[in-house]
Amino acid sequence: MNSPWDVRYANQEALYGKEPNAFLAQTLPEFKVGSILLPCDGEGRNGLFAARQGWEVHAFDGSQVGVKTAERWASEAGVKMHCTVCDAFDFVPVQAFDVVGLFYAHMPPDQRAEFHVRAMNWLKPGGTLLLEGFHVDQLQFHSGGPRNESMLFTPEMLAQDFIELDISQNEFLQVSLDEGPLHQGRASVVRFVGTKK
Ligand SMILES: C[S@@+](CC[C@H](N)C(=O)[O-])C[C@H]1O[C@@H](n2cnc3c(N)ncnc32)[C@H](O)[C@@H]1O
Repeated sequence: MNSPWDVRYANQEALYGKEPNAFLAQTLPEFKVGSILLPCDGEGRNGLFAARQGWEVHAFDGSQVGVKTAERWASEAGVKMHCTVCDAFDFVPVQAFDVVGLFYAHMPPDQRAEFHVRAMNWLKPGGTLLLEGFHVDQLQFHSGGPRNESMLFTPEMLAQDFIELDISQNEFLQVSLDEGPLHQGRASVVRFVGTKK
């Protein structure tokens, strides 16, 4: 084990639950089944959902413990997921994707914009980026996320980061999270959908 995330995932399984993020579960079925990349997929709850829906799933995370759990969950469910232990800034995909899904992938402020440019580059032309993450307003709650405002999102920030996409949804809303022990309760999030031209 060599990262704080490894320690967290080793201490308790299903830190964000085993069920998919609600926004992904609601949105993904609207798309024609194809290939999806899930960067920073942790223990793979979202990849597992997409694989069960018939998607060709590629997922990576910096935590080897998280990825090991994702591989085991996929194997237990009898579905295929291409999982890699990789840092987001080292990831070199072998293909482009119909959908890239960023779920609670909060980077340090000096890396966020570059990470978002990378995520856009992983899309096929016509491909769609889905994102849910914590809004800066989340600091009033204790339902999860970084306690550092500079790692949190606003719709204005995402509109700028993803200026190359056709944005169809970019909204700040309060939701009730029930995602394992680390995402529980009232939360301020941003939900984003944008398509590569
Ligand atoms: C809050 S967890 C969310 C996990 C997953 N997306 C979910 O919603 O269940 C954030 C994840 O991002 C991963 N992560 C953070 N920075 C990373 C980086 N630079 N490269 C790869 N993974 C990273 C962590 O290991 C962790 O699994």
